[in-house]
Amino acid sequence: MKEFSRRQNGFKNKMKPLKIKLSKPYIPSSGIKEVQKVLKSGNLVQGEVVKKFELALQKYLGTRHAILVSSGTAALHLALLALDIKEGDEVIVPAFTFPATANVVELVKAKPVFVDIALDDFCMDVRKIEKCISKRTKAIIPVHEFGQPADIKKIMSVAKKRNITVVEDAACALGAKFGNQMVGTFGKIGCFSFHPRKILTTGEGGLLVTDDVAMAEKLRSLRSHGICVKNGKMDFDYAGLNYRMTDFQAALGLSQMAHLEKMLKARVALAKAYDQGLAGISWIKTPLSIQNRKNVYQTYHVMLNQNVSRDALIQKLRDQGIEANLGAQALPCLSYYQKRYKLKERDFLNAREAYTQGLALPMHFALNEKDIKHVIRKLELSLGGINS
Ligand SMILES: Cc1ncc(COP(=O)(O)O)c(C=O)c1O
Repeated sequence: MKEFSRRQNGFKNKMKPLKIKLSKPYIPSSGIKEVQKVLKSGNLVQGEVVKKFELALQKYLGTRHAILVSSGTAALHLALLALDIKEGDEVIVPAFTFPATANVVELVKAKPVFVDIALDDFCMDVRKIEKCISKRTKAIIPVHEFGQPADIKKIMSVAKKRNITVVEDAACALGAKFGNQMVGTFGKIGCFSFHPRKILTTGEGGLLVTDDVAMAEKLRSLRSHGICVKNGKMDFDYAGLNYRMTDFQAALGLSQMAHLEKMLKARVALAKAYDQGLAGISWIKTPLSIQNRKNVYQTYHVMLNQNVSRDALIQKLRDQGIEANLGAQALPCLSYYQKRYKLKERDFLNAREAYTQGLALPMHFALNEKDIKHVIRKLELSLGGINS
């Protein structure tokens, strides 16, 4: 999920200043000091602080290897390159996600095959995956949308049965768990984002995790032009990219690690306050809590009844200083994918419904329960004039 400018989203620019923003990064004062330290040191590019942050993430997630990169998109792109996914291959992706999940498949010239989502968790509907598998299927990219874990164990077993690699898009889901295991650590490779709307931020940034040492080595090399060192001499094994993270970004990320559990707890508490406060509003459906899955609520995403105009509601909230937005895109409805693959929207009805009736409400560490009550009160008062 991206931070779009108001103009890009088509909402009016002339409005009261926002009192309650959709999202706001938490930057501890130690983070500012650590960033300054790196800036003063003069060592700006990927170095010791990136290594330190990688080790902290490795420990936190319980993986053998953590490889920091310049964005979540870069992480997904490198994963597909490292798996040698190319023209003629197919990759199964959910029909409802941020477009980066499928764009990277296009970038390696493979074909994204869209599977509809379940409205219970906004993640790929496991029952519909088998139907999308063909001889050409090389990978499945489940997305843990909005910080809610996908049904990853079932996805892993479908993939295993058909000998297909799983790359998890956990861009929104740092700290989310399926059972006792962190999401992002089930597949061959897990990808995370550190964009400012995410759980933890480095401005722009991303992460790959894997338990496979050869894969980790390839990813590290691809992240930095394809460089390798042989007998003490620099050589190039691949035509790689520059997807490195800087040390000052890593300092910012590392400073937030000490506050991560506190930040996650706050999100869960705010989500609970929303759940309780919205329970009495008949035209809003709150996200489901699913047994055995720990949602970290990167986005608090509700569904509106069909007769409610979501965009009119967003405008009405904005007029009152509250920022809200759509949650994610139904990719088969976007111009690029529509033109390229001529997909039938009737095959992606849940994705389309989430795209038109889904609403992301303010959710970040600086909010308190009083703010949530204020948003709920404004929602209750907003229904008049927003029927579609
Ligand atoms: C599900 C998903 N995948 C991938 C990305 C891309 O991450 P980034 O913005 O860090 O490139 C995002 C971020 O918006 C996302 O929400």
